[in-house]
Amino acid sequence: MVVLDETYVDFAEENALALALKHPHVIVARTFSKAYSLCFQRVGYFVGHPELIAALHKIRDSYNVNGLGQIAAAATLDDLPYYRANFRKIIATREWLSRELTKLGFRVFPSQTNFILVRPPLFPAKEWLQKLRQRKILVRWFNDPAVRDYLRISIGTPAEATALTAAARKTLAG
Ligand SMILES: Cc1ncc(COP(=O)(O)O)c(C=O)c1O
Repeated sequence: MVVLDETYVDFAEENALALALKHPHVIVARTFSKAYSLCFQRVGYFVGHPELIAALHKIRDSYNVNGLGQIAAAATLDDLPYYRANFRKIIATREWLSRELTKLGFRVFPSQTNFILVRPPLFPAKEWLQKLRQRKILVRWFNDPAVRDYLRISIGTPAEATALTAAARKTLAG
């Protein structure tokens, strides 16, 4: 069995849906939580071979995704042009922010999602977290050896990205 988590697929250049449709041992998992802004409903779905889907039906909780969640998820499909425009905006903001932070000395890892992982210059990442918070910018830092030197920054609006770069510039200037 291969399970492909495509939570961030709408912000990516590629997807592997064709593999799930072709190979009976491949299943793709997707969610309405990110690109469709429905994380408060937790609606997701699998795409895979009918036998695999039937097996999942057997083992899943007896209660389905709640009804309002299903209605909300189905409603997003009536307005795909709106959501597609939104994905494009987020991708454009992600690429802009990545370029601007690179210019300021941040190491920015390539992203196919709605967030970026960066290694900030001059101060440890944990200090950046505090310094940005003092300027009312909230980013995430995880106290784990693998990612302690990095910040995780969610992509918001262009105005939020601009505010972040301004705050970073001021932080660097002292
Ligand atoms: C990689 C990944 N998979 C799955 C999920 C969970 O999605 P859902 O909100 O549908 O439970 C998330 C949400 O943060 C995620 O980042």
